[in-house]
Amino acid sequence: MNKTVNVGLLGFGTVGGGTARILLEQEDLLSRRTGTSIRLAKICDKDIISDRGFSVPPGVLTQDLGDILDNPDIDIFVELIGGIEPARSFILQAIKNGKHVVTANKALLATHGYEIFKAAAGAGVEVAFEASVGGGIPVIKALKEGLVANRFHTIMGIMNGTANYILSEMTEKGKEFKEVLSQAQELGYAELDPTYDVEGIDTAHKLAIMATIAFGSPVSLDDVYTEGISRISPMDISFAKDLGYRIKLLAITREQPDGIELRVHPTMVPSDHLLAQVGGAYNAFYLIGDFAGKVLMYGLGAGQRPTGSAVAADVVDIARNIVHGAQRRVDPLGIPFDRLSPLKKAPMDNLSSRYYFRFSVLDRPGVLAKISGILGDQGISIASVVQEGRDRTGSVPIVMLTHEAMEKRVRAALDVIDRLDVVSDATMVIRMEDLHAIEGN
Ligand code: HSE
Repeated sequence: MNKTVNVGLLGFGTVGGGTARILLEQEDLLSRRTGTSIRLAKICDKDIISDRGFSVPPGVLTQDLGDILDNPDIDIFVELIGGIEPARSFILQAIKNGKHVVTANKALLATHGYEIFKAAAGAGVEVAFEASVGGGIPVIKALKEGLVANRFHTIMGIMNGTANYILSEMTEKGKEFKEVLSQAQELGYAELDPTYDVEGIDTAHKLAIMATIAFGSPVSLDDVYTEGISRISPMDISFAKDLGYRIKLLAITREQPDGIELRVHPTMVPSDHLLAQVGGAYNAFYLIGDFAGKVLMYGLGAGQRPTGSAVAADVVDIARNIVHGAQRRVDPLGIPFDRLSPLKKAPMDNLSSRYYFRFSVLDRPGVLAKISGILGDQGISIASVVQEGRDRTGSVPIVMLTHEAMEKRVRAALDVIDRLDVVSDATMVIRMEDLHAIEGN
């Protein structure tokens, strides 16, 4: 029981710094809790000079990845450089060299996960990725272990701290999107490329990973319908507030009769729903199991310390297995690799939802009649209409809420509406979720 487990970490940036710090600062705590010694043996980065705000023992920092990948003493390779390449090749090399892998790289897992998990199954090593979803919230472990005996009919949540921070600041302070984005970047929440955060791609990566586990079926980024928040304006936020809603970037996966629904988009959430109360960089995961019922996990989904905590938890899991001579006690995807089976994905066209439309139109007689006619042609029924005053260009926002309508009919109607010469900008569309109904209340 007293083997030292040696960890080699690649990437000494935001998450790498948090991981190094927690492994060093909590070394005694981890040793007491695991009954073994977990040693941060190597940290590899191009920059081993800059001050990260804490000291690293001599001999740990290196610029040579061979000190980790080709070092037989290293048991666990922690990849924290992000991106597809060279992260993918390094992970595959580590697996080939018989090392267990811990990664926070959701982009890689959501696009090349199958290849990596297959290689790991063949080599009999672990691939752990708690930090790829939900920062400090142990949601992957909950899906694989705590809720293992449940079927999930719905998983939904707020899975991107940057986007949630932006929407929250816009809601509370009436600020513009761009202004808040730079604040989020300064706070260290955002991805290297913030487009991933604001265009919903990061959220879609996370949803793909969670759905793979929840349904035991390979799900990749391409399977997820994705829309971001960059077109949301303070006007939409204010209309939403008046209507009793908050706008959230929601990820939703559900088992439907025509397949698994997988979608990420700005969503109007009723203000009295728990998810509407999740503000700032916080994330929330709503897992609905057939026996456990509704489980809500809430916490910091981004940032150095929470994400470092998740990486360290994976390291500890693997260290415990090593100490007890166990191999892959829990399969990386919560199901043996050869038991994964493809499931049909529900087409987005079939989605049925209520919709918020904000039309930007010239204030002329007959415009409203024209728009309602086109919606009527597609069988879309209007629930209410609000028109506010003109701006200097003579353009006015008209907000319309619909009754339940089908996505494909909405798309067909908007194709026609957005080409009308009285329409001055593309219509803003936000789906309105009756979350209480989804939850089965
Ligand atoms: N950029 C991500 C976020 C970090 O804002 O949530 C964690 O995945």
